[in-house]
Amino acid sequence: MGAEPLEIHLDDRDLSRSLRRDVRIGLTAAAKWLPPKWFYDARGSELFDEITRLPEYYPTRAERAVLAERAVEIAELTGAKTLIELGSGSSEKTRLLLDAFTRRGGLGTFVPLDVSVSALAGSTAALAADYPGLRVRGIVGDFTRHLDRLPTGGRRLVIFLGGTIGNLLPVERAEFVAAMRAALEAGDWLLVGTDLVKDPAVIVPAYDDAAGVTAEFNRNVLRVLNRELDADFDPAGFAHVALWNPEQEWIEMRLRARRSMRVTVLDLDVDFAAGEDLRTEVSAKFRPEGISGELAAAGLRTERFWTDPDGLFGVTLARAV
Ligand code: SAH
Ligand code: AVI
Repeated sequence: MGAEPLEIHLDDRDLSRSLRRDVRIGLTAAAKWLPPKWFYDARGSELFDEITRLPEYYPTRAERAVLAERAVEIAELTGAKTLIELGSGSSEKTRLLLDAFTRRGGLGTFVPLDVSVSALAGSTAALAADYPGLRVRGIVGDFTRHLDRLPTGGRRLVIFLGGTIGNLLPVERAEFVAAMRAALEAGDWLLVGTDLVKDPAVIVPAYDDAAGVTAEFNRNVLRVLNRELDADFDPAGFAHVALWNPEQEWIEMRLRARRSMRVTVLDLDVDFAAGEDLRTEVSAKFRPEGISGELAAAGLRTERFWTDPDGLFGVTLARAV
């Protein structure tokens, strides 16, 4: 059947407008920050894929173990006709589900949605070639803005893997879950992957690997700003920091100025004191009761909750009620 042309809900002008807005808000705040979605240009998407293969980065392997074990059950329980994946990236683990749905029969369409055009172009071409009976309909979009534009009709399963839901701040997460429920019909399904709270001695190295790939991924956001906004960040002037926050139960990635610096971006002169941090990501870790509670509050009933054998990562299958 082949991949259809990408459906664009975010063009260069939208992206540029929202990047400018985020930069203005985040870099003029008393505690500087940027939203993590700006990591993912072509290089950032490649670096993320490299992270998933690092020995320290357990979430991908742990989630894959759950999916390998449960894919057939997920296909049977949901009987989905349309599979929609948010923040799909390379859709590598999704193949486990696609294999199970292919064996079962009945899945007609796969709809990956991502902000990264390069990731989508690669994944849709590869999936269309490997699953010839499947309609592959990639959407360039923002899952915090475009859930109302997902395809409707048929029995749908929306998947949100990798723990990416944890990259939303708590308020954003509540808005996301409510918007997700609003986009679903009663009876539709949601499969969501969440990294679980555990010893920080396991979590911190996953975000500060020995090979320095995560540090490069973190600094990549400065390269995006330099290229897209003609900013003059010196990426080497910032150290990569991964910090466990025990109150919030999330890990933060920060870029710490190695010396005092003035950076020009848009019409702003942004001053960094030596040692000052720019927060580039939070990655929340969850407890099972917290996940089911947040979903239930929005009208999504947890039907199954699975973890990998080591209890590192959770996968929840919920249904819209
Ligand atoms: N689901 C894959 C990839 C996770 S990386 C996995 O489990 O391995 C996070 C993905 O979400 C990236 O591909 C990134 O481009 C995408 N992403 C981040 N913020 C987004 C947003 N607001 N809207 C849509 N996609 C987003
Ligand atoms: C995409 N997301 C779930 C990753 C995470 O673990 O929070 C992004 C990442 N950041 C650093 N390493 C990986």
